[in-house]
Amino acid sequence: MDFIDLIIKKRNKETLTKEEINFFVQGVTNKTIPDYQISAMLMAICINSLNEQETSDLTVAMINSGKTLDLSSIDGFKIDKHSTGGVSDTTTLIVAPLVASLGLPVIKLSGRGLGHTGGTIDKLESIPGFNVNLSISEALEKVKEHNLVLMSQTEDLAPADKYMYALRDVTGTVESMPLIASSIMSKKIASGSDGIVLDIKCGKGAFMKNLNDAKILANEMIKIGQNLNKKVTAIITNMETPLGMNIGNSLEVIEAIEVLKGNLNGPLKEVSLAIGAQMLIMSNIAKDTNTALEMLNENINNKKALYKFEELIRSQGGNPAVIHNYSLFPQKIHKKTITSEKSGYVTEANAFLIGEAAFKTGAGRLTKDSKIDYGAGIMLKKQVGDKVEKNEILAIIFAEDSIKCENAGKLLKSAIKIENNPLPKKPLIYDIIK
Ligand code: URA
Repeated sequence: MDFIDLIIKKRNKETLTKEEINFFVQGVTNKTIPDYQISAMLMAICINSLNEQETSDLTVAMINSGKTLDLSSIDGFKIDKHSTGGVSDTTTLIVAPLVASLGLPVIKLSGRGLGHTGGTIDKLESIPGFNVNLSISEALEKVKEHNLVLMSQTEDLAPADKYMYALRDVTGTVESMPLIASSIMSKKIASGSDGIVLDIKCGKGAFMKNLNDAKILANEMIKIGQNLNKKVTAIITNMETPLGMNIGNSLEVIEAIEVLKGNLNGPLKEVSLAIGAQMLIMSNIAKDTNTALEMLNENINNKKALYKFEELIRSQGGNPAVIHNYSLFPQKIHKKTITSEKSGYVTEANAFLIGEAAFKTGAGRLTKDSKIDYGAGIMLKKQVGDKVEKNEILAIIFAEDSIKCENAGKLLKSAIKIENNPLPKKPLIYDIIK
């Protein structure tokens, strides 16, 4: 088979056979196809898309490019969750200990930040000592003892996706529905779970900018799951504005702890509970949403979810004292306060621009290998819909030097709009598709 013929085929909007897709993925995995040809194929897919069968074949080929986790030694139904990526999206740190405290075993392999979106692994690494690099056997031991493991994806899990993702990131080919669907589903299925709850983010700070595209993506991922005998529920949630008030690694962990302590309500908690409820329903721990929400709220109120998070930190080598003493997190000495230039209502807090502003503080990576500044980031003081007075504080920026604070501040100012009248609120949860 000549790979150039396959690129031309896709460029001409033709359908690729299963054998051709396998040839492509094997060539990526064995590094026998050069990056420029892989990139050309990715661009052809990005422009001309893949049909349902091609997407399913690509997913299976990527699963088979590496090892598959065998979770059969863990009792019960194993459920994973995955977000398609957002800003201040710290739901995993809330949902995972919550459902684990209710008896659901959670062994979750997560990723690092991507572009303007944050990553669970970077957030966990902001906890002093926390080890995300566990072997599979270590993870299995820990999940049997604590019911909860949060770790980095291992090298041998869906390696073709890992390679293609890095190329997509730098070739303008991230925003393709079949590529996103197969990328996420291949990793989730290779991680060995029986069911998956997807949080499909939709809006300015997400890869899917509108509801129609988010629904198409949700349905594509559900179909892939069905074809591979996995239960999938997709929740489509609003990512016009950051989900929480804190953006940046240690800042987001602190906000998640505040939710687990029962000190904080709002969108971050609401979306976390919605995801948790679907996980409990899928695993038959709860019979319906109301029962599930009651159980989840109870384990926040009685602190069992917080204790589970503390147990997780301890079991993975982190310092659990951070839970009661936030000054143990990396701190920043430079602060910049952003104030409102007029009185009115916050009508927009653009998640993409705020994510980019957080990036400028040092909270994200400039290149694959650059170091993250865990203490850097932004603390929003106002949300969309809030009334503000002239000179009132809208946000505080934390960075290691004043230049970074200034650069982030300029972008942040352009992200937050104040108008005379409030706008009608958009829903937080658009849809739940099973
Ligand atoms: N997250 C992934 O893992 N892959 C994508 O393609 C997009 C978001």
